[in-house]
Amino acid sequence: MLREILIGVDLGTSSIKVVAFDRAGRALASAARPCALSQPRPNWSEQDPSAWWRAATQAMKAVSRRIDPRRVAGISFSGQMHGSVFLDARGEVIRPCLLWNDGRTAPQCEEIIRTVGREPLLRVLRNLPLTSFTLPKLLWLKQNEKANYRRLRTLLLPKDYLRYRLTGRAAMDESDAAGTVMKVIGERRWAGEILAQLGLDAAVLPPLIGSAEIAGELTPAAARATGLAAGTPVIAGGGDQPVGAVGVGVFVEGQAMVSLGTSGVVLAPTRAVHLGGEHGLASFDHAVAGSRYLMGCVISAAGSLQWFGDALCQAEAAEAKKARRNLFDLLLERAAQTPAGAEDLWFLPYLMGERTPHPDPNARGVFFGLSTRHQKAHLTRALIEGVNFALRDSLELMRARGLAINDIRVTGGGARNPFWLQNLADILGQPVRPVENPEGGAMGAALLAGVGAGLYKDFNEAARRAIRVGDRVRPRRRDVRDYEQRYQRYRRLYPALKDLFVQYS
Ligand code: XUL
Repeated sequence: MLREILIGVDLGTSSIKVVAFDRAGRALASAARPCALSQPRPNWSEQDPSAWWRAATQAMKAVSRRIDPRRVAGISFSGQMHGSVFLDARGEVIRPCLLWNDGRTAPQCEEIIRTVGREPLLRVLRNLPLTSFTLPKLLWLKQNEKANYRRLRTLLLPKDYLRYRLTGRAAMDESDAAGTVMKVIGERRWAGEILAQLGLDAAVLPPLIGSAEIAGELTPAAARATGLAAGTPVIAGGGDQPVGAVGVGVFVEGQAMVSLGTSGVVLAPTRAVHLGGEHGLASFDHAVAGSRYLMGCVISAAGSLQWFGDALCQAEAAEAKKARRNLFDLLLERAAQTPAGAEDLWFLPYLMGERTPHPDPNARGVFFGLSTRHQKAHLTRALIEGVNFALRDSLELMRARGLAINDIRVTGGGARNPFWLQNLADILGQPVRPVENPEGGAMGAALLAGVGAGLYKDFNEAARRAIRVGDRVRPRRRDVRDYEQRYQRYRRLYPALKDLFVQYS
């Protein structure tokens, strides 16, 4: 029996998606189940790990019915990063998982920096703690739920919990472990010395393995729950950003992925271990062995457009519905009719605070330069330009670290819009290429499964066989010059408002 089906499990924040692919990257079957988010207090964001398990097994069952389970070569994962799954000695979940977008740990972040010191943190971890990350969550548990902390035996990340239930073995892969800021970047080692200084027990951290390594096999109980075959190899998988980059073929230095989803991400693989931390830039291990990456995150990218559409464009929404068109396509088509720079209108996309290059929860969205000339189409254009300027901020931080990026691949919903893509190329001053990858992280996960199970020789072969990259969108010279000047002006707005954001928060 030829085993040539690969299963990618994408554990997102709003849903779990399971896709079965053939070796050429064609989706054979897919299923998704929603995941509920709980916000029991302002700033808190939690999910119940057993709900992930129920959703994942249902989706796997739906997929397994449409394929021959005996032909599955391997299963792997792309997972929402940074969340804390706390398990007791029996492997039971102690409390709901604190997610990547949970903001309760600002005091713990400050305490970690005060106790360990900025320089030692940067030297060992190459990063500084942010509320998103896992280390401050562990400290929060110790300080706020003492009984739960005493019960804690194993700390896992979200998709590691699914893998644990599938294989019976606890482990964390290096790419996701990097996002805990408890791991030494570029080495397979926990930073036990940092945990000790904070009075935290490093024994709760599971063994580290490579993202494309076999972590175990499907147990008979898991086989019954999923409809897949017992003994199927389960490959470690990784964090959604690095695995998403694998899914668009971005894993060597010189490349970058720009993801235009609700949030916007710029991720650039590096050979060397670079310094992150400052300006909210992350320096983590990639899901491809021997590669690291730098990553910047714009919290509200397509999220800004979504807000704009919801808050201000009811008439256009009705019009789009009548014409059976996508509202965002309609808005961007009109934005494209306005001149570059939207007649001197700027937008800062900090609707929910920002991560890179201004890690500032107090920052807020701004339209600057409004005049009676401006119509809705100008506002839309300024919004897209503002998001693209913010993405350029991340790229500039990477360029300043000496990265020469010459292959930018764009993914996410925004990559399907020609105006957004052209404007991105004009503002970055470089060609960009869209990647047709509607299955997102599931594709990257399946490629990890394929490399881990030996179906592909390496990631080059996996990318060559499975990933289809679109044509280059080239920057237009005149607009590049114009946007260069506008970008320099854009950069002056945040520093001028920084203190006011704090005073008005
Ligand atoms: C990455 C990040 C998000 C989460 C949720 O740093 O916070 O991508 O992984 O998707």
